[in-house]
Formats: sequence, C-alpha cells, structure tokens
Amino acid sequence: MRLALVGAGRLAAHLGLALQALGQAPVALGARNRQAAAPLAQALGLCVCTPEEAQLGADVVMLAVRDEAIAPLAAALPWRAGQLAVHASGATELEALAPAERRAGFHPLQLFADPLPRPEAALAAFAGVRIGIEGDANATLALSSLATRLGAIPLLLVGGQRARYHAAANLAASGLFAPLQAAVTLWREALGLDEAQAWAALQPLAKGALAAASERGLAGALSGPLARGDTAVLARHLEALKDRPVAPLYLEAMRTLLPLARESGRLDAEQWESLFQLLSSQPAKDV
Ligand SMILES: NC(=O)c1ccc[n+]([C@@H]2O[C@H](COP(=O)([O-])OP(=O)(O)OC[C@H]3O[C@@H](n4cnc5c(N)ncnc54)[C@H](OP(=O)(O)O)[C@@H]3O)[C@@H](O)[C@H]2O)c1
Repeated sequence: MRLALVGAGRLAAHLGLALQALGQAPVALGARNRQAAAPLAQALGLCVCTPEEAQLGADVVMLAVRDEAIAPLAAALPWRAGQLAVHASGATELEALAPAERRAGFHPLQLFADPLPRPEAALAAFAGVRIGIEGDANATLALSSLATRLGAIPLLLVGGQRARYHAAANLAASGLFAPLQAAVTLWREALGLDEAQAWAALQPLAKGALAAASERGLAGALSGPLARGDTAVLARHLEALKDRPVAPLYLEAMRTLLPLARESGRLDAEQWESLFQLLSSQPAKDV
C-alpha cells in the first residue's frame, strides 16, 4: 500500500511514525503549512509537499486533518479512478470525501497527544486499540490489514451512525470527567477542600474503579449502594443532593447503572425492586 498523509498533526505523526517503525513509512507528506509540517517530514525522511503533490504517487490518501477541513480538502483534490480517499475522523460521514470515488474511514479509538512521538512510542500507542473502519469490501480488507499490522484491532462501522458512534467514544473519554468534576465540586462545598486536595483524594477511587472494570467488566466492578442493594444509603444521597446542581447528574447516573446492578447477580429480587422503586419515584424536576 503506497500511503500518503495529508496533514501533519497528532494523528498523522502517530500513524506515519508507527508505520516507519514497521519499515512501511508513508510515501509522501502533504501540508498547507510547510514550516509546521517540517519536523514530522524530517522524522519520516520525507520532504513536505502540497496535498496535490502528495496525492500523485499514492494508492491511499489519508486526510489527517480536522473534521471541518475534510470536505473542502477532498473537494479540492484531483482524485484518480481507483485511488482510495481515507479520513481519520470518528464523527464525519464518508460523504465528506466526495468527489473521490472510493472512500473509507480509519478512526483509531485512542488519544494521541504527542505532536512528534518516537517511532516506537507511536507504534505502542496503537497496541490493542480498536480502529473504526468503514468502506467498500476492498478498502475494509486493506485497512483492516493495516490496523492488524499496527497491533490494533479492526472494528467495522456502518455508515450513517457516526455521530452516535463518536458521541459514545467521547463519553468514554472526556465524558468520564463529568462525574469527577461534580464530585470535586461537592467536596469543595461540603468539606471545604480545594480542587487539588479533592482530586488527590478521589483519584485512587477513580483509578481503582477503572482497573476493576478492565479486569471484571462493568457489572462485575460495580461498587457502592447500588452494588450492595442498599436503598437506605442511596436515599440519603438523593436527599442530601436534592437542591444541588449535581442532583440530575447523580440521579441519571444511578438510573443508568441500575441494570448493571441486576446483571452483577449480587442482588436478590427484593433489593433490586427497592432500588428500582426509589429511583423511579424521584420527581421529574430533579432530573
Ligand atoms: N489526535 C487524536 O487523538 C485523534 C484520534 C483519532 C482520530 N483523530 C482524527 O484525526 C484527524 C486529525 O486530528 P489531529 O488530532 O491530528 O489534529 P491536529 O493535531 O489539530 O492536526 C490537524 C492537521 O491538519 C492540518 N490541516 C488543517 N486544515 C487543513 C487543510 N485545509 N489542508 C491541509 N492541512 C490541513 C493542520 O495543519 P496546519 O498546521 O496547516 O493547521 C494539522 O497539521 C481528525 O479527523 C481527528 O478526529 C485524532
């Protein structure tokens, strides 16, 4: 596969340098800003060229640019028949790659923060990561093979669902910070702790919960009053938070987790029913 990268940001750096670590470096790097792209080009042993020049000798052209730049860039490039246009976005549908005749998506479910990682670190960042792949049968095959070479795992996507797919990914990443931020605020108000103190004290709980979920799954890792079937403690939480801005978030979180409490197999029917009644009986104004 002769792969050209267009864009020299974090995704391009990780993909390009990971492929270089495998001895399969991209054939070209196209960018609109030569100066900004120069460090990556140098690390890849390439010159910076224009997006049009990068496209010339490639079978696969990865538009590794921000979502809003994908459609205008794809529209401006002179695609050849059979050439595969790929973007790395989670939220943008493949229609954005028109007028390229062959379009595909390659979206690693990973956070790439380093603008210029070492090649081994770039490759390590793909290990065990799912990559959302969408395209025709040949494109899916080629991109799944690319994912596997990177040590990642293909996750086949269907068109038309990308906004929901990406919203879920966002919930699983920064979305996790919403309850953490709410917990810090509660402790600041209730205990007078400053943000750093509260976060330092809460961190082991958050890390422990994620580590347990990695090992035992979400239901198996559930803890607290829901997992113990302790309706009295949960009722005290809801009462204490009643007039606080965090009340809707807390209630919705407990409602979302309730099916996991059942799935965990640790509650008897009476305990589950009692939790269910408590959470269902909360007035709508609290949500
Ligand atoms: N970073 C991640 O963790 C991650 C993970 C999975 C998927 N992705 C996806 O990867 C894509 C790129 O994200 P990123 O994080 O790499 O972004 P980024 O670090 O902000 O880099 C974006 C790159 O696109 C270039 N660019 C923007 N508009 C352009 C245009 N019209 N023509 C040519 N180049 C243009 C920018 O160049 P300038 O210097 O000229 O602005 C920059 O090099 C996005 O679709 C994102 O959703 C990112």
